[in-house]
Amino acid sequence: MKQAGHLNFLTHEEIKKHLRPGISTKQLDSIAHDFIIKNGGIPSCLGYEGFPASICISINDEVVHGIPSNRKIKNGDIVSIDFTVRLNGYESDAARTYIIGSVSKETEDLVKNTEKALYEGIKEVKPGARIGDISHAIETFAHAHGLSVVRELVGHGIGNNMHEGPDIPNYGEPKKGPLLKEGMVLAIEPMLNLGRREVCMLEDDWTIVTEDQSPSAHFEHTVAVTKDGYVILTGE
Ligand code: MF3
Ligand code: CO
Ligand code: CO
Repeated sequence: MKQAGHLNFLTHEEIKKHLRPGISTKQLDSIAHDFIIKNGGIPSCLGYEGFPASICISINDEVVHGIPSNRKIKNGDIVSIDFTVRLNGYESDAARTYIIGSVSKETEDLVKNTEKALYEGIKEVKPGARIGDISHAIETFAHAHGLSVVRELVGHGIGNNMHEGPDIPNYGEPKKGPLLKEGMVLAIEPMLNLGRREVCMLEDDWTIVTEDQSPSAHFEHTVAVTKDGYVILTGE
């Protein structure tokens, strides 16, 4: 899983090199697709429950599961990129949100604080802790920074399959929920909104957007529970 996670990281780095105003989301998808294949991996989002691309690209008020298209990235956008990479039978899952050019101070804070919220959740990971400890840490940090927490989508266990138990909500009660044990691997992924928490799905049956059209950010890492804490498998 460490190897799958590392290829996921390298693919994010490759996408980042090409991410600038004027590039289409389809071009980014094809760069990621070819990079994963070239390195012996499988872009496992492609065809997953019929998803038509290798990566999800969600812009501004799009929360997750945006489908790459001819839409071009432009100055002032925030762009969330989320995908899984399968390698040697194991999955990895990571997401980042990028600021393109200049955005408002509050949008910049949304993005920075969503990344920080992810690390607040990750810090809770150790044997003996519970899923609710992760959930509560993320929710508390989000609310302290005036952000709302999307509830309809959650993090998850990960292994030979992209989505395994347990669910990891980004809200909840400390000391509640499944117990963490050494060797478990978790995909932790806060989705935070600048406005209200409610979301809806577009006609394409994939793209999730905020109901009030406020911007939304998403960060995700695949994290393994170790003997005395955790290791981030999709990190540098
Ligand atoms: N990467 C997503 C997650 O965080 C799932 C992608 S849905 C797919 O769980 F259809 F694109 F695969
Ligand atoms: Co993901
Ligand atoms: Co995930």
